Amino acid sequence: MAVKQFLKCNVCGKEFEEAVKTVCDECFGPLKVQVNLEQAKEKLTKSVLAQRAQSFWRYFELLPLNEKRNIVDIGTTVTPLVKAERLGKLLGLNNLHVKNDAVLPTYSFKDRPVTVGASKAVEFGYRVFSCASTGNLAASTAAHAAKAGLQCYVFVASNIEESKIASIAGYGPTIISVEGIYDVANRLANEAADKYGWAVMNVNVRPYYQEGEKTLSFETCEQLEWKKPDAVVVPVGSGSLLYEIWKGFEEFEELGFVGKEKVRFYAAQGKGASPLVDAVKNGGAIKPYKEVHTIAKSIAMGAPGDGDAAIRIIRETKGGGESPSDEEILEGIRLLAQTEGILTEPAGGTTIAALKKLAEQGAFDANETVVAYVTGNGLKTVDAIPKAKRASVKPKIEEVDAIIANAHLKQ
Ligand SMILES: Cc1ncc(COP(=O)(O)O)c(C=O)c1O
Ligand SMILES: [Zn+2]
Repeated sequence: MAVKQFLKCNVCGKEFEEAVKTVCDECFGPLKVQVNLEQAKEKLTKSVLAQRAQSFWRYFELLPLNEKRNIVDIGTTVTPLVKAERLGKLLGLNNLHVKNDAVLPTYSFKDRPVTVGASKAVEFGYRVFSCASTGNLAASTAAHAAKAGLQCYVFVASNIEESKIASIAGYGPTIISVEGIYDVANRLANEAADKYGWAVMNVNVRPYYQEGEKTLSFETCEQLEWKKPDAVVVPVGSGSLLYEIWKGFEEFEELGFVGKEKVRFYAAQGKGASPLVDAVKNGGAIKPYKEVHTIAKSIAMGAPGDGDAAIRIIRETKGGGESPSDEEILEGIRLLAQTEGILTEPAGGTTIAALKKLAEQGAFDANETVVAYVTGNGLKTVDAIPKAKRASVKPKIEEVDAIIANAHLKQ
């Protein structure tokens, strides 16, 4: 039987058998997984998909795992694609949708790559999971390790929110907080992977782990009734998510599930940590940041690992990018919560703030289908939200009357 998947260099195209391997022997380019689409086509049709449960692993034929018994699944599901009528109206967009990954089991999109990375790590025979993280990946890795009954060590950047640390700790991993920014934690995780023989999700099993992210575009197409959107806005840290969303659209096109129309890609990064958006705007190469300063900490990375792939997509699809300030990010969080009822973390606020700026610049036609990817939950980052205003009363209805009268005046 033909192989289900192989590794392919994203720079020179050289192919390798599946293995724990991340860079090309020829040119040191990053390796990506390529699933055998011809083989998948024989089993997977639109009508087969229509009969499957709304769970993440409904795309098994398109994911780089050989045996279903190796699946580590904490209940990751298809997430809602919400037609954002009220937010769209404010932004002059008649077909705006929000893909809400804040509802996944560990409250961020990271459950998608981690269910694949963890399953593949089990298939390769690893007994310990690890990762380098800005917070969300660590929670997901620890949850999957718990589910698989394996040990877990997570490296986190020392500047992340206290509430995020708490959410990781609940799953019981050893948390190693590394002094410095994410990029430093990532280097240390690399060293530990070599020294201790762990499966580090975003390091040595990265090509497999990343493949989980493309399911976001599979779901988007199905939810748009087998159509691609015209444009997408994606939060960017390393650039992996943006690259994989693009790859998912390409694969669905190759399978004949959607047409050949191109999707424009727009990147969202926080001002103070926007190496990719800077390069998009000035047309040059990506210049890494040594320090990062933004409240969007989960996407604050100095040197985007998949930046070259991401920028190529943005340029080829004639998309763009925006890098909102902290105030604009907070406004983005409020805007989404108060128009669509979705509370997101600053990474999602960055996406909505970038969407707003881009809409104001005329990046989208009013009737185009635009999808904004909201990738993390606001309850994980309560520290980022300014102290909530509240009205305190004695238990007397007259005091409530006064507040209501006042609220009406403000409307
Ligand atoms: C909530 C959230 N959104 C987006 C991203 C960006 O993903 P990537 O590093 O693949 O660009 C991250 C990364 O950790 C994240 O936590
Ligand atoms: Zn190569």
